[in-house]
Amino acid sequence: MLVSPAVQAARAQSALHNLFIFPLSSFLVSFKNQKKLDKKYLDLAISLSKGPDPSPNPRVGALIVKDDLILGSGHHHGPGTPHAEIEAITDAISNGNSKLLKGATLYVSLEPCSHTLKRTPPCTDAILKSGIDRVVFGMKDPNSLVSGAVFLRSKGVSVAGPLSQKECEKINSTYLRMLKIPPRVILKMAMSLDGKIATRENDSKWISSEKSRLMVHHLRSRCDAILVGAGTVIADNPRLTSRIPSGKDPIRVIIDGSLSTSPKSNVFQNPDGKTILVTCASSRAKLKLYSSPNLRTLVFPGKKVDLRLLLTSLSAMGLKSLLLEGGSTLAGEFFDANLIDEFYFFICPKLIGGKTAKSPLGGLGLANVCESPRLHSITYRKVGPDLLIHGTILRS
Ligand SMILES: NC(=O)c1ccc[n+]([C@@H]2O[C@H](COP(=O)([O-])OP(=O)(O)OC[C@H]3O[C@@H](n4cnc5c(N)ncnc54)[C@H](OP(=O)(O)O)[C@@H]3O)[C@@H](O)[C@H]2O)c1
Repeated sequence: MLVSPAVQAARAQSALHNLFIFPLSSFLVSFKNQKKLDKKYLDLAISLSKGPDPSPNPRVGALIVKDDLILGSGHHHGPGTPHAEIEAITDAISNGNSKLLKGATLYVSLEPCSHTLKRTPPCTDAILKSGIDRVVFGMKDPNSLVSGAVFLRSKGVSVAGPLSQKECEKINSTYLRMLKIPPRVILKMAMSLDGKIATRENDSKWISSEKSRLMVHHLRSRCDAILVGAGTVIADNPRLTSRIPSGKDPIRVIIDGSLSTSPKSNVFQNPDGKTILVTCASSRAKLKLYSSPNLRTLVFPGKKVDLRLLLTSLSAMGLKSLLLEGGSTLAGEFFDANLIDEFYFFICPKLIGGKTAKSPLGGLGLANVCESPRLHSITYRKVGPDLLIHGTILRS
């Protein structure tokens, strides 16, 4: 493993220190000295993050230290590769320091991640497993709903940070700018000729033809995530997978404000760790009913999930395209909040009727037709017996 000159110099200095000076065991180090050491090693971790650009991921450097001796170091190289914390732990092990990891301190320029919805496993798990019992970090994870610091503290790890927020933000300015770009929201709906997406009894199987449904499976496999509301899970008990050969299953995001779905629903039974339950219900007892090692839960404050904040959180998890598959209530909220970028409307030769049967966009809706958003690049295509109207919406 390549070691930067800064780490080499610090290692030599700390090795000398350990040979000639009495080792600094943490309980003898005064608060002031600890602060000085923290600054020295965090600065070093930050300098490690300034290597080659891991874009679109953030720049992160990490260092593991015990008794003023550097056990291992590393930085993040880019998408799909281990995070800096894992590089540092692996480096420490390959340096023969695995036994020293217990009780060591990890210095890392970005708050360790704790979410499972990415290509690499959460760093918080590796930190706990290694025996590291103190973490000092530079910058807070920009995704406020996914706090590794809170998680580590809850497991008894001492955590200090953010200690260099401004400096790390400057180093990661491109990454932080990219996070502000919201994920693309693509609405898919199948409706009858009279504009219904389900019957008055909430039956919607099947309004569209087999050919259209196959197309939706292809669409799913091209998107990072599928979003549905609790009503759709209750009515249809969907699996929300992409059932095409070699198709990729997107992450399933279930928005269930008051936890009205059954924990036994298909979307919560899948063992692939790709489901996120988004709720406002904070009752531990209720949430526990859904608990499974493969389910990630995001609890929002208030009575309704703030959809903009949700999009920011999903973007911070690296999700850039979201297929909004309904139902009427959720799609209407996205429309009212002006958050839909693109749509696929399958208009199918069936008649359903009924004033209580749902239409694609619930919510408040517009008061005047002239307020309708500008639609672009509209195409019309026959898919089996159905008509597919596809287009984009200019977000105002
Ligand atoms: N034809 C199609 O393409 C299609 C597609 C999808 C669905 N459907 C049909 O549509 C029907 C379901 O539509 P729906 O309007 O009843 O249900 P829905 O939109 O799927 O779900 C509504 C529920 O989602 C939760 N929710 C939505 N927005 C929320 C927010 N901002 N914060 C917190 N929770 C939020 C609420 O759950 P809580 O009550 O728990 O707070 C709400 O009651 C079903 O019949 C289904 O078959 C048809």
